[in-house]
Amino acid sequence: MNYPAAVARLTKLLGIRTPLIVPPMAGVSGGALAAQVTNGGGLGFLAHVHMSELPLARSLLESKVTESDTLPIGVGYLAWMLDKLPAKEAESVLNTALASNVQAHWFAFGNDLGRWIRYVRENAPQGKKTPLIFVLINSVEEAVRAVEDFKADVIVAQGIESGGHGGDYAPPLSELLQTVLDRFAGSSQLPIIVAAGGLANGADIASQIARGASGAVLGTRFLLTPESKYTDAQRQALIAARSEDAVRTMAFDYARGTTDWPKGVDGRGLRNDTVSDFEKGVNLEVLQAKFKEGIQRQDQSRFLVWAGTGVGSMNRIVPAKDLVQELHLKMLEHLKDTA
Ligand SMILES: Cc1cc2nc3c(=O)[nH]c(=O)nc-3n(C[C@H](O)[C@H](O)[C@H](O)COP(=O)(O)O)c2cc1C
Repeated sequence: MNYPAAVARLTKLLGIRTPLIVPPMAGVSGGALAAQVTNGGGLGFLAHVHMSELPLARSLLESKVTESDTLPIGVGYLAWMLDKLPAKEAESVLNTALASNVQAHWFAFGNDLGRWIRYVRENAPQGKKTPLIFVLINSVEEAVRAVEDFKADVIVAQGIESGGHGGDYAPPLSELLQTVLDRFAGSSQLPIIVAAGGLANGADIASQIARGASGAVLGTRFLLTPESKYTDAQRQALIAARSEDAVRTMAFDYARGTTDWPKGVDGRGLRNDTVSDFEKGVNLEVLQAKFKEGIQRQDQSRFLVWAGTGVGSMNRIVPAKDLVQELHLKMLEHLKDTA
C-alpha cells in the first residue's frame, strides 16, 4: 500500500521502509540496538553516552557502508550533559558523531539546544549529505521553537505517557500531536512530526498515523530485545509490569544522583520501594545506599526500570530486527483497515 503523504515525507527523508524510530536511550541503546533497528527497516538511534559503539553499529549494518557514506543510524544527545561539559569536550562528542557521518542528530532536554544544533550544522562534513536534526518537544511552544528557531527536520512529539525522561507538563500524546498539527496547519513550514509515548504495538503506530503523525517512536518496547542493555531481571520486571506501575517520579534521579535535568523534567519508571521511600521523605543517603545495593543484587524492589504506559501489554522478548518487521506488518494491517 502507498503510505499517507505525511508518512511518505518521513520515509523518503530518511530512506526507510517503515515509519518506525527507536530513540536514543541512555544506558540502553548502543550500537547493536541501533544497527538492528535500521536493519529491520526503521531508523535506530544510539545514545551519545554509548558513542564508542559507533564502529560496532557500522559492522552490524547489513547494507555495507564505507567510511565516506552516510551511516544510516542516528546519535541522540542529552543536551544538559553537553551543557555541563567544558565546551571543547562537548564539541568533541559532537565531532565523533560528525566524523562518522551519522544520518541524524537528536537533541533533547537542555537549556540551549540551539547552540549544539548550530554546531552540528556548521561543522558537518563538506560535500556530504547534510545531517538531519531531530528535536524532542513536550509542548506546542517547544514545537514552534524547534521549527522556527532550530529549523528541525523532524519533531518528536513526546506525550506524558512516555517511558524514561520527559517534561512533566506534557499533555497526553494525542492532544499534543493535535495541537502541534493545528498550530502548523496550512503553514508553509509544516513540520514532519513523529509521535512518542506509551506506544506498544502496530495498531498504536497506525493510530498515530491516522491522527496525522508521520511516524512513531517506540522506546520501552525495544527494552525487551536481546540487543538492549537492560539486564534479564529488568526485562522480567517489564514483562510482569502493569500499565499503572509505570509512574512519573524523580525518585530514581535522586537515588542515583542525576538531578541536573532542566526544570520540569522527570522520568517514568516502574514503581517500587525506591519510589515509595522517596515519597515518604526517607533520608537521601539511606535511599541512595539501598538503591546501590539493590542494583548489585538485581533486586526489583529497589532497582530502576524506565517504562512508558504501554508496558502493560508487552510480554515478549524479540530480536530488534524481527520486532521492527513484526510491528511493520501489524501496522500495515491496521492502516488497511482504516484506509
Ligand atoms: C530507558 C529509556 C531511556 C531513554 N533515554 C532517552 C535519552 O537518552 N534521550 C532522549 O531523548 N529520550 C530518551 N528516552 C525517551 C524516548 O526518547 C521516548 O520519548 C520514549 O521512549 C517514548 O515512550 P515509550 O518508552 O513509552 O515508547 C528514554 C526512554 C527510555 C524508556
